[in-house]
Amino acid sequence: MEQLSARLAGLSPSETLAMSQKSNELKARGIDVINLSVGEPDFNTPGHIKDAAKKAIDDNFSFYSPVPGYPDLRRAIVEKLKRENNLDYTADQIVVSNGAKQSVCNVLLSIVGPGDEVIVPAPYWVSYVEMVKLAEGTNVIVTAGIDQDFKITPAQLEAAITPRTKAFILCSPSNPTGSVYGKEELKGLAAVLAKYPNVIVVADEIYEHINYVGKHESIAQFEEIKDRVVVVNGVSKAYAMTGWRIGFIAAPLWIAGACNKLQGQYTSGPNSIAQKASVAAFSGDQSCVEEMRRAFLRRRDLIVKLCREIPGVKLNVPQGAFYIFPEVDGYYGKSVDGRMINNATDLAMYLLEAGHVATVGGAAFGAPECIRLSYATSDENIIEAVRRIKEALAKLN
Ligand SMILES: Cc1ncc(COP(=O)(O)O)c(C=O)c1O
Repeated sequence: MEQLSARLAGLSPSETLAMSQKSNELKARGIDVINLSVGEPDFNTPGHIKDAAKKAIDDNFSFYSPVPGYPDLRRAIVEKLKRENNLDYTADQIVVSNGAKQSVCNVLLSIVGPGDEVIVPAPYWVSYVEMVKLAEGTNVIVTAGIDQDFKITPAQLEAAITPRTKAFILCSPSNPTGSVYGKEELKGLAAVLAKYPNVIVVADEIYEHINYVGKHESIAQFEEIKDRVVVVNGVSKAYAMTGWRIGFIAAPLWIAGACNKLQGQYTSGPNSIAQKASVAAFSGDQSCVEEMRRAFLRRRDLIVKLCREIPGVKLNVPQGAFYIFPEVDGYYGKSVDGRMINNATDLAMYLLEAGHVATVGGAAFGAPECIRLSYATSDENIIEAVRRIKEALAKLN
């Protein structure tokens, strides 16, 4: 008999990973599926980073590392934050973890408990709400639809704050929408937060470098709230290193200390070889980052142009990350061969089974009117995938 804890029973499986898996299963059966469900760059990790990993193996970095990461990596992160973001941190404010995913989870488990509310703007990255549930906190969802470019306003934020608000999670550039908050927009949010000194801001900046509007702006730049902003970032997206599993927080000392303690009992320090590779990523030649950004920009323009030709699909122009998040609810209630499309999940499944294109339904992101398509794939795949989607949608009536 299964005897799962209530904590686990209430947890939803990751829909993005589920779609990827389903698409891989179809592929294994010989079906030519184009996978637009994945959340990772399709590039290989740059050579100088791989070389640093090989050297770390030869240099016998095979022992446990300090729990919050090697000192040279934490220093390289401090330098990165100064150089790229003009943010001042000391190395003891940095905790390196097994990907930004663990970084976010460490923070939420450290600060959120029963009765605490966490404000999560929707559409949101699937894991935030599940992590809040794991921490036994309560999600307070603030919705921003396509008409406001999926970005919440300061007034919306303020209306959601209560005496029980513990944290506010901000993801910019955003997964799943690709929306990017500009400096003025962040300033407006910071002005609200300044009035509520008990609210911790978790700023997920993992897509920092995949930004098409210029310089990345961090909400940590506003002095009036900086002492309660936790910046989350890592190497996964910028350096095409999703499998290496290195992320970090830059946080007030009390939060860094708590995450260190938690991680010390839970996973220990992250992989030693990947840490050494990440020193090379943060400190080495940055031209690879720009090359990948340009490729993503070209693909963004391509997929936006092609999708705009599909009737009934409403699309904004995302300013960052590598996703588009079109509104497709005009197709709900339509059917083909007796198969009814009731919602985003049905539509994503139909596109996979009938069109052989893997996408992710928006419900998992708190936006059931949308689906998410990743364009971290070749131009040919983008062109063929959109052709198939268009054809499959045209059959619905
Ligand atoms: C918004 C967001 N935050 C964090 C992560 C996790 O990144 P990592 O691979 O470093 O754990 C992802 C990965 O998909 C993401 O989309």
